[in-house]
Amino acid sequence: MSDHNQVKMTAMEYDQDRPKAENPVLVEDLTLRDGHQSLFATRGRTEDMIPVAEMMDEIGFWATETWGGATFDTMHRFLNEDPWERIRTLKRYMKKTPFSMLLRAQNLVGYRNYADDLARAFVDRAAANGMDIFRTFDALNDYRNFETVVPVIKACGKHFQGCICYSMTEPRMGGEVYNLDYYVQKAKDLEAMGADSICIKDMAGLIAPYDAYAIVKALKAAVKAPIHLHSHFTSGMSPMSHLKAIEAGVDIIDTCMTPYAYRTSHAAIEPLVMTLLGTNRDTGFDIKKMAAINEILEKDVMPKYKHLLDDSKVSIIDINVLLHQTPGGMLSNLVNQLRQMDALDRIGEVYKELPRVRKDLGQIPLVTPTSQIVGIQTVNNVLFDDENERYKMITDQVKDLCYGLYGKTAVPIDPEVQKKALKGYARGEEPITCRPAEVLEAELPQAEEDVKGLAVDLDDTILYAIYPVTGKKFLKWKYGKEEPPEEVKAKTFDQVKAEDELVSKARAGLLVEKQAQAAPAKSENLRTFNVFVGDDFYEVGVDAQGESPVISYMQQMPVQMPQPQAPMAPPAAAPAAPAATEPAKEAEAAPEAKAASVDGTPLLAPMPGMVVSYAKQVGDAVDEGETVVVLEAMKMENALPAPTDGTIKAINYSSGDSVAKGDVLLVIG
Ligand code: CO
Repeated sequence: MSDHNQVKMTAMEYDQDRPKAENPVLVEDLTLRDGHQSLFATRGRTEDMIPVAEMMDEIGFWATETWGGATFDTMHRFLNEDPWERIRTLKRYMKKTPFSMLLRAQNLVGYRNYADDLARAFVDRAAANGMDIFRTFDALNDYRNFETVVPVIKACGKHFQGCICYSMTEPRMGGEVYNLDYYVQKAKDLEAMGADSICIKDMAGLIAPYDAYAIVKALKAAVKAPIHLHSHFTSGMSPMSHLKAIEAGVDIIDTCMTPYAYRTSHAAIEPLVMTLLGTNRDTGFDIKKMAAINEILEKDVMPKYKHLLDDSKVSIIDINVLLHQTPGGMLSNLVNQLRQMDALDRIGEVYKELPRVRKDLGQIPLVTPTSQIVGIQTVNNVLFDDENERYKMITDQVKDLCYGLYGKTAVPIDPEVQKKALKGYARGEEPITCRPAEVLEAELPQAEEDVKGLAVDLDDTILYAIYPVTGKKFLKWKYGKEEPPEEVKAKTFDQVKAEDELVSKARAGLLVEKQAQAAPAKSENLRTFNVFVGDDFYEVGVDAQGESPVISYMQQMPVQMPQPQAPMAPPAAAPAAPAATEPAKEAEAAPEAKAASVDGTPLLAPMPGMVVSYAKQVGDAVDEGETVVVLEAMKMENALPAPTDGTIKAINYSSGDSVAKGDVLLVIG
């Protein structure tokens, strides 16, 4: 028995005279970033964080995570919110607790390595807007990708937290690549770079409790910097891993407030507070204050988001993580992608192909963006390869990875796959071994040029530089040059109420499904009747047809009994799927000719996605196999080759347009 569980107080003392622990566990709260990113696709809006912000500031968290990861992308793309503004707004309500962000090192808050000028500007502006702690990771654990951002974090006087992405190739820690020595070495590397703290980033919830113990013990012995554990709940192990890590002396733990906890998110803070109560690692947090926050989140916030929660499963643990060691978010992406392509029945093949692809690509950790890179290539292989040829459709990101643009892989990439990927690759067929950003040209000057007259400040320009297609669209909404589409607007409580009423009616069997057959046209004999059923009021149209009258329509009306003539209630918005579709099409250039009316060989979209760009214009000559369209699917870009030699006869979409599988992208004649 360790002395951690010696309670030095009675329950009576809890409220008033609770002694301060000798070595309290520090806690970072993730509710406002990883919590909603994990549970409802990062759709949390700033207006729904404000009601609890001041109360959360009172808890005593070591830090609160408010930004980074997918927030930057989702906010401007799906919520019509300026991500920079969120930090400034929340800062007004949370003055004591330091803000933490997840920074994908040279990937910033995007999916590729950006040039040094953009990386420096981004970190500088994040700090200026109010960011305090930069939790920095690289998907390949290649710390050369830290070399540009870290000096800027330090120069701004901010906290540099270096991450080690926790990965494995075996069912438990160990094996050739990701063993204890690997993690100790990485921690030493981070310390040498000046890390103010070191985080074990277990994004998939893979770390087993006794491995957490071993790794924390080893790291505490090897380095001086505080050790932080970030472990998702996905597999169900994290509360046990937290406790073992605490016994091993971990300094900081990540948790969420209960309504934003568990499933693919993180363990809740409240059980941990009670677990440690009165021990020498007592958090010192007031559980009653937390209960008050939870009540607001439950009653006033969550109802607006519950339609985004994945309620397809009763189980809160994803045992696929235990079976396949695959991050939960990655699995749901794969399932979504297969479903969109009508190929969900091939998930078994995907599970089998995934470790092969990962091994071919250098046994890289699976975290954004590498989880998408490996996942999408795996799906491509399952869907498009045949017995004669593997890697028939290689994504641009896999090509970049093979070239070395993401950094050094844990083990060398399979030479055959690398050679195939780099055939005709624009930067060259010989991979690089230097720090990736060394081959990237400065990006800001071009970005400034592109959004001249649209961007007002550097923050706007950076947003555009990281997200050219959706960023430009957002800037047009922001400055009133284009009307934002309906689907980016916040859901109102009235809509939630209307939906809830519909659902409860359906559950009670009071909603009858519409007949599939088309309603007959209304004749001039139509008469309307007001029908009152209990508290509900219906307007019923009765059309005399031949001998007997036929009820031709029945429309439920809002319940405003004294005024039966009240206008119709607005239709409840359809619940958006977690992987919401792109906002409305950008109506810039009209298609030059409709493909349907043009003879020739069509290029069909092999998957649903968003058109990033066309490499050719109408009238251009193309060779078979040459890239003609870049299509983004599941955040990865796919270069689509010309199906034949010829001339481009028609182009059907423009940059930013969403397309379905099988849509004609262009025609070659
Ligand atoms: Co996370």
